[in-house]
Amino acid sequence: MRLLKNLIKYSLLTVCSFSATAGCSSPVGSSRAASTRTIVFKHGKIFGDSGPLKTLLREFEVNNPGVSVLDEELPSSTDEQHQFYVINLQGESASFDVFALDVIWISEFARAGWLRNLSDSLPVAAREDFFSATIDAVTYREQIYALPWVIGAGLLYYRKDLLEKYGFAPPQSWTDVVAAASQITAKESNLHGFVWQGKQYEGLVCNSLEYLWTFGGKVIEDGHSVINSKENINALKMMRSMIYDFHITPEFVTTLTEEPSRRLFGAGRALFMRNWPYAWSLFEQTSSPVYNKVGVTTIPRGPAGESYATLGGWHLGVNKYSRSPELAQKLARFLTSAYAAKKLALGTGHEPTRRSLYKDPELLRKHPFKRKLKDIFEKARPRPVTPYYMMISQVMQREFSAAISRIKTPQHALVDAHDQIEHILAIEKQ
Ligand code: GLC
Repeated sequence: MRLLKNLIKYSLLTVCSFSATAGCSSPVGSSRAASTRTIVFKHGKIFGDSGPLKTLLREFEVNNPGVSVLDEELPSSTDEQHQFYVINLQGESASFDVFALDVIWISEFARAGWLRNLSDSLPVAAREDFFSATIDAVTYREQIYALPWVIGAGLLYYRKDLLEKYGFAPPQSWTDVVAAASQITAKESNLHGFVWQGKQYEGLVCNSLEYLWTFGGKVIEDGHSVINSKENINALKMMRSMIYDFHITPEFVTTLTEEPSRRLFGAGRALFMRNWPYAWSLFEQTSSPVYNKVGVTTIPRGPAGESYATLGGWHLGVNKYSRSPELAQKLARFLTSAYAAKKLALGTGHEPTRRSLYKDPELLRKHPFKRKLKDIFEKARPRPVTPYYMMISQVMQREFSAAISRIKTPQHALVDAHDQIEHILAIEKQ
């Protein structure tokens, strides 16, 4: 085991020194050579303008003389990032100090002992301002292991110009989506009805849960799987029908992640799209082919009568193996401060985790859309908060994908998912 750990450490060191010389990381300031300490900040690819983040990091350097921050990007896929961190942290790598964690990994990483306890940076009184689901996600055994940074929830984007042209109101239910998309795509050439994230990865779970919940289904209740239900079968049937019965979703949806679907919609090639809030700021750019033609609303309702969006987001943790943990914590604190959150919200379209910023006049003037978001974030549903989430997700990714690609019937997929999830929950109880 020790030999394996050392081997991993060695190979990581080699990869890191290679990538540093290959230039995959960018020193933020120009004074790197003169500085005495370097903090590495790792996060997924930033869609949209990364300028405001770089400016903040530079500001941190100016306020902390002798410190330089290396800003390193990983691929955008959450699953790939997860894999990177698990391999590196298992190898006790100190090659990064502060990192952005998907909301679903925090309890897993905290339980593994890979995160520094940051409770002293978020005293109980200060937690009130944050969306409560976010605080739940960063808490493990009553201690805080990541500072809330960016929040997200599923949204339905629509082409308001096309809905108006054909006399449709923004859809409120899945059946409204089907009706408008079927009729409008029959008349508009080269237009897909509805695109979403259907590739076998975490994004598919986020999309599918919105169907499950709006159909009245659940995944886990009282520590047991309740995934194999009539409601969930109907939910998966609806997803499948979007593709093969109503023909409003292209079959290649099973290859789509966030960005490819956002690009299709952004090029004017789709009527509806399910995506996260980040897409909005990109459509708001005057150079966008859909500038001024896009509306956004809540996830459609299903037979259960309510709209449910999956809660997303990224929060900043400090690597337990960091050689500069205090400084790293200081950077995480700075990047999650109200000051930094506002700068990122104004310039990058990063949605703040602090409720008070949704009352900020300057922010609301620049992005009136944020007014709608606060309520959506308050109600967004978290994926199960458990150290075993990724194991459960792997099952859902596989089984939901099999159902929407017609490899299994929805019922067959859910029977299989149920058995595997029960097995994982039994391990959790041991
Ligand atoms: C977004 C969400 C994240 C989710 C991911 C799925 O990045 O913020 O929570 O896991 O999408 O692709």
